[in-house]
Amino acid sequence: MRPSHPIRGSEITSESAYLNRRDVLQLAAAGGMALAAPSFAWAATGLAAKPGGYDPKEEITPEADATSYNNFYEFGTGKADPAAKSGDFNPRPWSIKVDGLVGKPTEFDLDALMALGLEERIYRMRCVEAWSMVIPWIGFPLSALIDKVEPLGSAKYVAFETIVRPEEMPGQRGIFQPLDWPYVEGLRLDEARHKLTILAMGMYGKTLPNQNGAPIRLVTPWKYGFKGIKSIVRITLTEEQPASTWNRLAPGEYGFYANVNPAVNHPRWSQAMENRIGGGGFFGSNERPTLPFNGYGDEVASLYAGMDLKANF
Ligand code: MTE
Repeated sequence: MRPSHPIRGSEITSESAYLNRRDVLQLAAAGGMALAAPSFAWAATGLAAKPGGYDPKEEITPEADATSYNNFYEFGTGKADPAAKSGDFNPRPWSIKVDGLVGKPTEFDLDALMALGLEERIYRMRCVEAWSMVIPWIGFPLSALIDKVEPLGSAKYVAFETIVRPEEMPGQRGIFQPLDWPYVEGLRLDEARHKLTILAMGMYGKTLPNQNGAPIRLVTPWKYGFKGIKSIVRITLTEEQPASTWNRLAPGEYGFYANVNPAVNHPRWSQAMENRIGGGGFFGSNERPTLPFNGYGDEVASLYAGMDLKANF
């Protein structure tokens, strides 16, 4: 995942080109109009996402950067691939199956998911590759979904799975397959129920673009970005710790917990500093120290009381 060179200016999609290309549905918060006729009804549910109260008061990353410099290997391994090669992906209609150790296994369509209550939350995001962004997400607390299915007492973890759709995802075709599909991730149940954990359906006041994980993806802002599994189709409550794609591929490099921790370096690079993308440019000009738990320690450190975070990285 380590970038070998900075992104070139020519790879950055301009805001206007980007808007023209997308199925844009403005949220009420971003201008009050609902465009086109979506197969799921942002507008009908009064999607004026309410402010979620999580705002680091730092400069928001330009939308053009957050939507053009991505990791989404189903569309290719390059940072520009997800924006360039996800045009054939159709995220609607969609549903998520929630099953496993629950009293009420349920399949939720997008309207049912939206009804769980959308909020805008501005979160710092720190990639394991040592760059960071600040992104205004629109989503609902994952705990609201988990409550609906009534977890059994034996449930200890939550496993997530991305869609497999090679006909629409060029990174899943061809001879070279960089990862085993489906992309999978996991959280401990208490992490999944934590108030900071959301399933995002939008960003920057709009529905989620394909390259950022349309129509719905995980966001855990105190963990490295690779935990943020995209285009989720299945969520399973389990007793055993579930597999995580990067941990399975390189367990010495990517831990299951993946909590942002400046004191635990990746074996091939330091995690002490990060480059905030946008504004002053890409790499080199916007360096700042990385904070434990990405600055969310007051909220989440208690989840790990008594644990050795160097062993459980
Ligand atoms: N989810 C899927 N399904 N496939 C992926 O390749 N990449 C992960 C994560 N979620 C990935 C994924 C990685 S490595 C990162 S850093 C984040 O998505 C990037 O999210 P962003 O492109 O919205 O910044």
